[in-house]
Amino acid sequence: MPVRSALINVMIGAVRKAARALVRDFGEVQHLQVSKKGPADFVSAADRHAEDILYRELKKVRPAYSFLMEERGVIEGTDTSNRWLVDPLDGTTNFLHGLPHFAISIALERDGNLIAGVIFDPIHDELFWAEKGCGAFLNDRRIRVSARRHLDESIFATGIPFKGEKDHAGFLRQLGAVMAVSAGVRRCGAAALDLAYVAAGRYEGFWETGLHPWDVGAGIVLIREAGGYVTGIGGGRDPQLGSDIIAANDHLHRDLLSIIGRAATDEG
Ligand code: IPD
Ligand code: CA
Ligand code: CA
Repeated sequence: MPVRSALINVMIGAVRKAARALVRDFGEVQHLQVSKKGPADFVSAADRHAEDILYRELKKVRPAYSFLMEERGVIEGTDTSNRWLVDPLDGTTNFLHGLPHFAISIALERDGNLIAGVIFDPIHDELFWAEKGCGAFLNDRRIRVSARRHLDESIFATGIPFKGEKDHAGFLRQLGAVMAVSAGVRRCGAAALDLAYVAAGRYEGFWETGLHPWDVGAGIVLIREAGGYVTGIGGGRDPQLGSDIIAANDHLHRDLLSIIGRAATDEG
């Protein structure tokens, strides 16, 4: 049984509480699929409700810390060197459609460095957590990135741009380049879980553009603690505040970076 620090226990407590509300609401959403109005308003309320719970619980135990939350935005505390990054529901489109693949993701940033992350998939009861210098875990088991070294036996995850957002042609070039050399590409709809799965060795790598700090903060800590690499698409060291991310095991990060980098700059 791994020893969890007080900080990780605080994060897990908050996430589990918010998850109970989300799971109840997910049961309701499954019924609403067939209703005329559809579940969209209900899901926005569920999302905000989960965020309220996370805010309340984290505030109770660390009253001075600041927040960057997907729904409420920035809330500055008296302590601005500690900041929670909160995504109360990652995989909203899945949730809305009754697809059981979504998670809560929270990270703690201290003086600009990510130091702890928790990602919880309540439907599969999978709790991914990591603290800087202490390793990465899935429930009570230590996790590591996969040991695969060859692209043609590797699976990569990504996020597909939708509703006219982002650069579609550029994305298709990236997708084509990875498809051409790998064993497959997956798009499961929750970036936090994509990152957690890289940390757990289920995917060899992941890339996406247009993400936010609350999508990636916890996943970055997990992957680094699991022995993997995370950078921006240009290869910069700290993607947590930028929007583009490439994560992979230690053997394949460089390959994925150069494949995506080439496709991103290739206009032809
Ligand atoms: C989204 C999911 C999705 C990714 C999008 C994110 P949300 O987060 O992580 O997989 O492709 O870019 O915005 O909106 O469900 O919290
Ligand atoms: Ca969200
Ligand atoms: Ca998200």
